[in-house]
Amino acid sequence: MSRSASRWTAADMPRQDDRTIVITGASSGVGFETARLFAAKGAEVILACRDHTRARRAMDRITQGVPGARVEDLSLDLASLVSVRAAAAELRSRHGHIDVLINNGGLMWAPRGTTNEGFETHFGTNHIGHFVFAGLVLDLLLPVAGSRIVVVTSPAHRAG
Ligand SMILES: NC(=O)c1ccc[n+]([C@@H]2O[C@H](COP(=O)([O-])OP(=O)(O)OC[C@H]3O[C@@H](n4cnc5c(N)ncnc54)[C@H](OP(=O)(O)O)[C@@H]3O)[C@@H](O)[C@H]2O)c1
Repeated sequence: MSRSASRWTAADMPRQDDRTIVITGASSGVGFETARLFAAKGAEVILACRDHTRARRAMDRITQGVPGARVEDLSLDLASLVSVRAAAAELRSRHGHIDVLINNGGLMWAPRGTTNEGFETHFGTNHIGHFVFAGLVLDLLLPVAGSRIVVVTSPAHRAG
């Protein structure tokens, strides 16, 4: 990381008024704080979450701190490809384009298990769910100048 990048703070983020941002797993943690910051900078923010109640709570917290924030939720369970496909279809029905997809949601140290389609829980949720979702909405991103997909991950993979 360059010296100037290491000094970056939220105050350095420019206005995002014309942008539509989709964040997976935005009900807590990194995803929530990212959603809150984008909303504060004027972006339209879509919180793609598996739990509607937690998503609503997150949206309420954002609008309390950012009056007039443009936030909406999208039902997305990354551990179910049925849900992933439904979420992609719902997103497409609501938005003609998106500027940024942030693949943030996921889990770590979950007990041994599988997703609905039988993939190991971490691989199926963190990777396969996002891979399929991104593929199904890619054409909403591709025509947009400067669009991007951001993948939130961890250096912990090096120990794998
Ligand atoms: N925090 C760290 O120190 C750290 C370090 C390295 C990497 N990361 C990465 O940062 C990202 C966010 O981590 P965090 O620390 O913010 O974790 P967190 O607070 O546990 O948030 C994880 C989010 O993912 C959601 N999620 C979990 N399973 C899901 C599923 N099947 N479908 C849809 N959403 C699901 C959770 O939803 P619910 O609210 O419904 O549970 C929650 O909103 C992860 O990719 C993680 O690997 C974090």
